[in-house]
Amino acid sequence: MATNVTLAGLIDDDREQKLFRVDRRVFLDPAIFEAELRSVFDKSWLYVGHESEIPGTGSFVKRKVGGRPVIFLRDTDGQVRAFFNTCTHRGNAICREANGSTKLFRCFYHGWSFDTKGNLVGVPDAEGYSKAFDRSKFGLAAPPRVESYRGLVFMSLDKNIVSLSEYLGEMKDYLDLMLDQADEIVVSPGQQKYHFRANWKLYVENSYDGYHGVPTHRRYFVDFLRDLGSDPKSWDGLSSPTNEENRAIELKYGHAVIENPLGEIPIKIGAKDFLAENRKRIEKNFGAERAHRMLDFSRNLFVFPNLILVAHFRAMRTFFPTATDQVEVDSWALVDKGEAPEMRRLRHDNFLSFQGPGGFATPDDIEALENCQRGFAAGEMQWSDISRGMERRPISTDELQMRTFWRRWYECVNPDYVAIPETERLRTRLQSS
Ligand code: FES
Ligand SMILES: [Fe+2]
Repeated sequence: MATNVTLAGLIDDDREQKLFRVDRRVFLDPAIFEAELRSVFDKSWLYVGHESEIPGTGSFVKRKVGGRPVIFLRDTDGQVRAFFNTCTHRGNAICREANGSTKLFRCFYHGWSFDTKGNLVGVPDAEGYSKAFDRSKFGLAAPPRVESYRGLVFMSLDKNIVSLSEYLGEMKDYLDLMLDQADEIVVSPGQQKYHFRANWKLYVENSYDGYHGVPTHRRYFVDFLRDLGSDPKSWDGLSSPTNEENRAIELKYGHAVIENPLGEIPIKIGAKDFLAENRKRIEKNFGAERAHRMLDFSRNLFVFPNLILVAHFRAMRTFFPTATDQVEVDSWALVDKGEAPEMRRLRHDNFLSFQGPGGFATPDDIEALENCQRGFAAGEMQWSDISRGMERRPISTDELQMRTFWRRWYECVNPDYVAIPETERLRTRLQSS
């Protein structure tokens, strides 16, 4: 925990008045930033990658996870592993390629070599070392915990953290709703990488903020979809509070989900038959009710502290701050393994039309977040309000999901604070577990 940082009063969670606000210092103060690096990121499960990105023995991808350089790889026995990408000699990053396949990582500085299990197997001019120099002590270091759920691999720097399965908890069911949509869902080769100048917690809020959708992305939701043939009237009522299938769900450990029924989507001819076939298969395998939950919703999943899955866009992203106002983002598209090239192309079109630096949505979002960060320079305005939906059944355009994040965030950075769930549903769950 960083010293010299005042953590009291950063969040004002007034359950009686149904008001919730966050002190804008959380987006600006370098001491709070240091505190959250240690108490949020170093103490959580962090997404590393998907097993499909390293399909063969010796496949690897270079990542940055929780600020650490990491090699995510499959060793020559087929086991999925993660190592810190730093030479045990004097620090050089031993893996410099973005991805590839190898039997050996050779550090280019002095030539030490490591096998895919992390063992130091080659030291040039080894005679220069004393008898006490023990090669077996110079293997690559690994994060203390690496675990996976259905191909999604996470690591934690906290060796005492609960299991990934316990950490994900009810989120596993929401992940299943997405991952069961094909026989095998894989990451499409390649990824989007981008950077922006705002606080990372604004991107958490934005990633499942149903309230901003149409005002910010009018170009997409009104102009673009209408040009594709969608009738905006078909979206009426989907975000209404009276629609019981429109909801925000708070989960344990700060995770949350928003969901509402999908509106009419203009489907390209080529996709119609495929989607009808797929629906039949899913109904047969999972039953009509679960098929409805799987296929008929727009759903955003947030795994605390920095993983987002936008189910209907098959988009996944993680992000990490390098300063109070700097964020690096890694984003991927999920596709069905072995699907027809035409279907794959349509899926990519769908992803790219909305997501990433060339999409209709991401540049709008980034502009909004950077503009909020600029607005924070008016330090006279102390608070940001996040109280939407506290006095009604929370829906996807409310802010329960963000309050869930903030309470967990505050619990991590401030040991004096204990998060109390807002909804009866989670309170009951916690009591019975
Ligand atoms: S730093 Fe890697 S061999 Fe010297
Ligand atoms: Fe957005």
